[in-house]
Amino acid sequence: MPARVRTAVIPAAGLGTRFLPATKAQPKEMLAVLDRPAIQYVVEEAAAAGLDDVLIVTSRGKHALGDHFDRMPELEAELERKGKTDALEQVVALAELARVHTVRQAEPRGLGHAVAMAADHVGDASFAVLLPDDLMVDDAALLRGMLGAHAEHGAPVVALKEVPRADISAYGCPRIEPVEGPLVRITEVIEKPDPEDAPSSLALTGRYVLTPAVFEALARVSPGKGGEIQLTDALGLLAETGTVYGWVFREGRYDVGTPLDNLRANIELALERPELAAELGPYLADLVRRRNL
Ligand code: UTP
Repeated sequence: MPARVRTAVIPAAGLGTRFLPATKAQPKEMLAVLDRPAIQYVVEEAAAAGLDDVLIVTSRGKHALGDHFDRMPELEAELERKGKTDALEQVVALAELARVHTVRQAEPRGLGHAVAMAADHVGDASFAVLLPDDLMVDDAALLRGMLGAHAEHGAPVVALKEVPRADISAYGCPRIEPVEGPLVRITEVIEKPDPEDAPSSLALTGRYVLTPAVFEALARVSPGKGGEIQLTDALGLLAETGTVYGWVFREGRYDVGTPLDNLRANIELALERPELAAELGPYLADLVRRRNL
């Protein structure tokens, strides 16, 4: 049985071009969803699934990502002086969520290249990769399920979301064989297929449990468009030569790296908070009526 997975790698060195100009000088991963930055949800999810070591892949101008999970003595002293104990507890708890490390990706050469930056840190252990623009609202159920499958089978496990077939050309798409329940075996991966050629309506989404074999596969991947090294291509290579599993899920994901889904996440998460829902619910109902939506 493989050793317990401890490390969550969070690639956060991309340029965030789908959310410009908000992301020109501010990391996309620090954009707030309700009352906390997107990356905080992902670190909380990792901690809830039992991962206590976090490696954030950052780049120039993204110091805020590491700072957010560090202690901040001046702020803590000020909150204490003002008697703001709730806020003080929150900022201290943030620094205690997990051991957070950072590593730099010098150039944004793709998700696969960002994951390769984690090789020295993870060594010969299996690890999880969590994309911070995929926000999961599921009490870490998906990640827990994937980690459980990895503990049982020892092979990589990739999250697969059922999407409308017309949307599949935006994603990596696997050919699959059923195994049991949400667990499937991936036999081939096709990057951004036309809907009519797609082998399934499942999309590779931002949660992966990987073995160190992925680093050798990444080293063999040829750069694609714009010189980018794609993680999907490395997974395709692993599926050709060995076993790669998928874990199918349907609900609970927001792509907060795009303005529309970010807005949807803000509204739906707010409606789950009783103190906000009490006013927001009637406001939305009234808005829909007034605008004839
Ligand atoms: P995305 O493709 O969604 O992020 O990558 P991006 O490139 O920043 O965004 P757009 O498409 O230009 O709007 C998924 C995750 O992988 C990270 C990103 O920061 C994001 O969290 N990433 C991507 C890297 O760390 N390095 C890269 O070279 C590319």
